[in-house]
Amino acid sequence: MKNKSMIRRGRLGEPAAEEPLMPGFLTQISPATLAHEGSRKLFGLEAEMKQLSAFAQLCLDPNRREELARLDIYPTALLYGPPNSGKTSLARQLFLSAKQGNLLSSKAKLYSVDLSILLDPELGQSSRNVDQLFAFLTGKRGPSFLIIDELDAICTSRDNTNEHDGVRRTMTSFMLCLDQIRASSQLVVIGITNMIRLIDAAVVRRFFFRLEIDPVLSLESFSEYCRYLLNTKNDDMHFQSAHEAFLKKGFSVGDLRSVAARALIRASLHGKQLSVAELIISLQEERSTRDQTKDNAQSYRRRQDD
Ligand SMILES: Nc1ncnc2c1ncn2[C@@H]1O[C@H](COP(=O)(O)OP(=O)(O)OP(=O)(O)O)[C@@H](O)[C@H]1O
Ligand SMILES: [Mg+2]
Repeated sequence: MKNKSMIRRGRLGEPAAEEPLMPGFLTQISPATLAHEGSRKLFGLEAEMKQLSAFAQLCLDPNRREELARLDIYPTALLYGPPNSGKTSLARQLFLSAKQGNLLSSKAKLYSVDLSILLDPELGQSSRNVDQLFAFLTGKRGPSFLIIDELDAICTSRDNTNEHDGVRRTMTSFMLCLDQIRASSQLVVIGITNMIRLIDAAVVRRFFFRLEIDPVLSLESFSEYCRYLLNTKNDDMHFQSAHEAFLKKGFSVGDLRSVAARALIRASLHGKQLSVAELIISLQEERSTRDQTKDNAQSYRRRQDD
């Protein structure tokens, strides 16, 4: 029995061709959010952006569809790397640059799926949600990008015996849906994860372009980012010691903004301005998200073993 809410009526009250409604776990990223994203420069990711753009160009070029089909190339990319390294920001900026470079029409849309909502405790519902998601995105919707953040939530390895049966089924549906996507579907799927090692090899294989995102900032880029965060153009400021502390503690590029934010708060508590010295103190005192994530994973494993 067809769900009535899934059928949209035509103008004269006749049933129109069935068109799925946008599912609740899918969000269209608003132009305002995208404009904000576009105004933020990403540091240390220029080479990654170039590679991703080349892949997007290949997938979106209508003259190359036959070639892509012959080689069975799917328009799917997987970004992986430590937390706070810029994966989500890069995926969004890729969409923006594809629009600006006219690879995508101005009507193209960027979607993001919330897997915590998609995963449903009712047996079989998560798999149906996956089917509904792809039916919506590939149905005459025009070109679009789909970002699937935290992909590990539905695609952990089948060897993982702790994995819930429902999650496994969801992953199987997801793989089947990915198999249906072709360049002609006009849908580019970008999966993102912090934990590539947990993801099933069969899922990883379905992402044709895989890119590690773990930018290392040169002193020059680090100084440029710090000058931006400190809102200064002062060339006499030197960031060498801060850069050394940053590298030694394994901070991600994204950590730098929060470290600077806390340094600013501390400086203002002492009635001071944010300075390089304050930044260095924060870098020495704080812990990187990479370390925090490792600790969380270890205590999770300990709890599982108890
Ligand atoms: N390379 C970078 N250059 C400038 N800012 C960055 C960079 N990487 C991250 N940031 C900033 O850090 C914050 C987090 O970035 P983002 O969400 O893209 O990271 P992520 O890798 O997706 O993190 P997570 O794995 O936790 O989801 C954002 O405010 C972003 O602007
Ligand atoms: Mg992210």
